Amino acid sequence: MVVRASAYADELVQTAKTIASPGRGILAMDESNATCGKRLASIGLENTEANRQAYRTLLVSAPGLGQYISGAILFEETLYQSTVDGKKIVDVLVEQGIVPGIKVDKGLVPLAGSNHESWCQGLDGLASREAAYYQAGARFAKWRTVVSIPNGPSELAVKEAAWGLARYAAISQDNGLVPIVEPEILLDGEHGIERTFEVAQKVWAQTFYYMAENNVMFEGILLKPSMVTPGAECKDRATPEQVAEYTLKLLHRRIPPAVPGIMFLSGGQSEVEATQNLNAMNQSPNPWHVSFSYARALQNTCLKTWGGRPENVKAAQDALLLRAKANSLAQLGKYTS
Ligand code: 13P
Repeated sequence: MVVRASAYADELVQTAKTIASPGRGILAMDESNATCGKRLASIGLENTEANRQAYRTLLVSAPGLGQYISGAILFEETLYQSTVDGKKIVDVLVEQGIVPGIKVDKGLVPLAGSNHESWCQGLDGLASREAAYYQAGARFAKWRTVVSIPNGPSELAVKEAAWGLARYAAISQDNGLVPIVEPEILLDGEHGIERTFEVAQKVWAQTFYYMAENNVMFEGILLKPSMVTPGAECKDRATPEQVAEYTLKLLHRRIPPAVPGIMFLSGGQSEVEATQNLNAMNQSPNPWHVSFSYARALQNTCLKTWGGRPENVKAAQDALLLRAKANSLAQLGKYTS
C-alpha cells in the first residue's frame, strides 16, 4: 500500500503543536458575513464592511491577547483585510504570536433524501482556494458541519458529515493547512446527555474511519467537538463534572492519542458555563491538549461592551481579555469563579 504523505508534514505537526500549547486556545472570529450581520444587529449596527473591520480590528489588537490565544480563525474577508489603521490583520496576529486560520467550508444546505438534515458544501475548488490562503498567511483551516439529534441523525447524514470532513482534512494537509475537524452536534432538542453521548460516539467513529481511509496524518489535525451535554430543552441539566465525565469518556473511546489538540466549540453555552466545563475537563492529565475554540463564549460581553462606539474599544478589549484569561486558566485546570 502506498501511503500519501504531505510535503508539508513537518510544518503541519509544528503548527498543530504551536496551537495546542499550554494555557492557550483559539479565538473563533470567522463568522460569515450573514452571521456577523446578526451579531452587529444585536448592538444596533449595520452590516457594512467598515463595521466588520472596526470590530475585528478591536479583537486582534487587544494588547497581550497572544498570551491566551494561540490561533484565530478568520472569514475570507478578514484574511485579506487591514485594520482601521491600515495594517494587515494577518500581520497583527503574527506579531501577537497568534497563528492565522481560515474558515474554508461554504456552509450548510439541505441534504436530499434525509429527514430535513443538512450537509456542508465546499470541496469543489478547495485545493486551489487553500493554496491561495496559505500564500496569504493562513496556516490552519476550519470546516464546520452539523449533525442534528431531533432530526435523526440518519445514517446518511452521519456518513456524509464524516466523509466530507475526511476529504477536507486530506486536501488541507496537502496544501499546508492544519485541518480543524468540526462535526458540531447541535444542542437543540429535549434529549438527555446519554443520547448525545451515543450520537457523538457514532459521529467520531465514522469521522476517524474515513480520515484513516483518506490517509490523513493524525499528528497534523486538531478537533473541534461539541461537549457532551443534554439537549438545550432537556429538563435535567448537567453539572460541569458530569459534562466533563461524559465528554472525556467519549474522547478516550474515540480519539487516538496521536491527535495533539481538542479545541471545543461553545455552541451557545454561556461564557461562564463554557469556562467551567473546560476547567472540569482539565482536573487530571489528558493524552491531548484539551482547550477551547470559542466564538460566542469569548465575544458576547466584548461585543455588547463595544456597542459600536470608539470610546468603548478599550473596555471591550478588556472584556475579551478577561474571558481569554479565564479560559486559559481553565485549559490549565486552574480556573476559579
Ligand atoms: P461557538 O463557540 O459560538 O459555538 O462558535 C465556534 C465556531 O467556530 C462554530 O463553528
